[in-house]
Amino acid sequence: MARQWLATQWGDPWSWEFTEVQTPAPRIGEVTIRVRAAGVNPADAKHVASARSGATLPVPIGYEVSGELTAVGPDTRIGSGEARVGDDVLAFRVYGGYATEITVPAEKVFAKPASLSHEAAANLLLAGTTASEMLHVTRVAPGETILLHGASGAVGVMVLQLAARLGVRVIGTASPSSFTRVEQFGGTAVAHGPGLHDRVTDAAGAPIAAVLDAVGTDEAVDVSLALVADRSRIVTVAAAARAQSEGFAWIVGSLPASAAYRDGVRAELIALAGAGELEIPLARTYPLTQAREAVSFVLDGHPGGKVALIP
Ligand SMILES: NC(=O)c1ccc[n+]([C@@H]2O[C@H](COP(=O)([O-])OP(=O)(O)OC[C@H]3O[C@@H](n4cnc5c(N)ncnc54)[C@H](OP(=O)(O)O)[C@@H]3O)[C@@H](O)[C@H]2O)c1
Repeated sequence: MARQWLATQWGDPWSWEFTEVQTPAPRIGEVTIRVRAAGVNPADAKHVASARSGATLPVPIGYEVSGELTAVGPDTRIGSGEARVGDDVLAFRVYGGYATEITVPAEKVFAKPASLSHEAAANLLLAGTTASEMLHVTRVAPGETILLHGASGAVGVMVLQLAARLGVRVIGTASPSSFTRVEQFGGTAVAHGPGLHDRVTDAAGAPIAAVLDAVGTDEAVDVSLALVADRSRIVTVAAAARAQSEGFAWIVGSLPASAAYRDGVRAELIALAGAGELEIPLARTYPLTQAREAVSFVLDGHPGGKVALIP
C-alpha cells in the first residue's frame, strides 16, 4: 500500500490525515511514479482551507513531485516523449503529490534532467510557470524597469531569473534578511513596509513600467496602483479580490488561459533548469510524515527558499 496526505475536512493542515491508499495500475495515458520528493507550495494548504464550489472531500494534497516511474500504461508516452520503468521524472499539476506513490496523467510528466536533484525538480514548475505567466500577461519587454513584490519568495526568484534573461531591470521587495537572495538573482532589493512607495521610486530612478505582485498585501496593491497608471500592466497572484474590484489582472493556474500558457512553458523551463540557467533555491527538506509542519513553515511567509517532502 502507498501512503498519501488527504484533507478529509476543510480547514488548516493540522486536520489532514496520512492514510494508506491503493495506487491504481496505470491505464492508457497514465503512469505511476514512486515519489522521491514532493514540492511544497502555499496553494497546497490554501486550496483546502475552506469549502470550494465544485470540490469534494477528501482532497489529496500536493501539486508537484519528482521521482521514478514504476509503471507505464499501455501505448503511453509522457509529456517529454518515450518513457520506461525506472526513468527519473518530474510531474506538475498532479493531485495528491504528498504521497509515496501516485498514478497520474502521462502528459503532466517530463523526464527529469540528471543535473537536477529530486528536491529541486519537485519545486520547479509551479513557481516557474507562474513567474513566466506574470511576465507574459504584463507584456514586460527588454530594457524596462519593473517592480516585483515578494522578490525573495519562490515565485519571486523565478521572476528575477527570467527577467534577467529578458534584459529587464527588477526592483524587488523583501525583508532585509532576504536582500542577498534578491541581489544574487539580479534584483535591486527594497524593504517592504511603511514608506515603500518612496523607496521604490528612489531605487528605480526611472518610471516603473509594470508591477508583478507575489505578495497580495494592501500595501503591495496600493503602491502598485500609485506607480503604474495602466492597469493592464499590473498582475497579482495573491490579491484576487482587489484585482477584481480595481480592474487589474489576477491569474491562477486553474483558469483555462493560465493553464494553457503554463503547460506551454513547462518544457522550456525544465530545459533551462537542466542546463543550470534557472536555479531553484531550497530552504529545507522534511520527511513526508511531517507534511503539516512543512506546509506550516511555508505559510509563515518567510521560508527563504523552497521546501521538499521526502518519503
Ligand atoms: N495564483 C497563482 O497561480 C499562484 C501561484 C504560485 C503562488 N501563488 C501565491 O503567491 C504568493 C507567493 O508564493 P511563493 O510560493 O513565492 O511564497 P514564498 O516562497 O513563501 O514567498 C513569500 C514571499 O512573501 C514575502 N512576504 C511575506 N510577508 C510579507 C509582507 N508582510 N509584505 C511583503 N512581503 C511579504 C516574503 O518576503 P520576505 O521573506 O523577504 O519578507 C517572500 O518573498 C502566495 O500567496 C502564493 O499562494 C499564487
